[in-house]
Amino acid sequence: MSASTYPSHRLRRLRRDAFSRNMVRETSLSAANLIWPVFVIEGEQRTQPIASMPGVERVSIDILVERAREAAELGVAAIALFPMFEGSKTLLAEEAYNDDGLIPRAVRALKAAVPDIGVVTDVALDPYISHGQDGLIDDNGYVMNDETVAVLVKQALTHARAGADYVAPSDMMDGRIGAIRRALDADGHIHTKIIAYSAKFASAFYGPFRDAVGSAANLGKSSKETYQLDFANSDEAMRECALDVAEGCDMLMVKPGLPYLDILARVKDEFKMPVAVYQVSGEFAMLKAAHANGWLDYKKCLLETLVAFRRAGASAILTYGAVDAARWLRGEK
Ligand code: PBG
Repeated sequence: MSASTYPSHRLRRLRRDAFSRNMVRETSLSAANLIWPVFVIEGEQRTQPIASMPGVERVSIDILVERAREAAELGVAAIALFPMFEGSKTLLAEEAYNDDGLIPRAVRALKAAVPDIGVVTDVALDPYISHGQDGLIDDNGYVMNDETVAVLVKQALTHARAGADYVAPSDMMDGRIGAIRRALDADGHIHTKIIAYSAKFASAFYGPFRDAVGSAANLGKSSKETYQLDFANSDEAMRECALDVAEGCDMLMVKPGLPYLDILARVKDEFKMPVAVYQVSGEFAMLKAAHANGWLDYKKCLLETLVAFRRAGASAILTYGAVDAARWLRGEK
């Protein structure tokens, strides 16, 4: 037996005491890595639970501001806003670029009251459109690319004018990053950053989210497979990322998270730029459901998944557990 094997080498030596484990830990997790997705509704002092996402609520803007203050105090990096639009949804999703709409008002309120927390907005038409797809459809129900991009550009400008720090197109249309970047620059928003949902897969793990924003019923049995990535594909995800990098995104995103750690690690390795990952609604619901049954410990499992995202290469993690995790990272119960 050579000298470089057991028993001269015992990897368990460094695992024996906490000070050694802490010293050699390769990955860190802090609240500064976390982005908290929040669902916003109209009104005052309104909260609504979401059945499929225990502990998550839709909140009116005044309550959103209070929650944002707490999140900022805990060091959470940013809030990602998603609207539950209760007005009438249309075929052309005109509400998506209403400067006085729910999201622009929420952005302005946040930036005025809690300037230290980043604000990320979702650029996609699904909350506002009568059929629940992310873009405009033709007579056959096919989501049209270039016509949709024109509307996404208007939506992104609306968000940037309201003061969003990041716009995050989640629609998976071709060419939208370049079109949005050019429009932002032409309108003077050279500092508005773009997080591109580049590797966004057509996933059944988005189910609870579609309840939360109220698009599930509109979408019915239709799928998003003609624009979101086939979850069997990895090379194609790299091509999406390469195009979004070339078109000028500031950060890439992989979504969902845990079932796609291979994609996340590959994106980080190939592009060597900041990557975000989205621990989506279904992943969160699984942890909560198992916890409710006494089968898993939500706290331990959540923190383990977040470290796994960091280990795989994520700079930013979107998680519905951001505030829970930030409290625990501080040592609070
Ligand atoms: C839609 C959008 C979705 C999510 C974020 N933006 C759902 C979808 O593509 O149907 C999913 C987030 C989650 O499941 O937590 N533009």
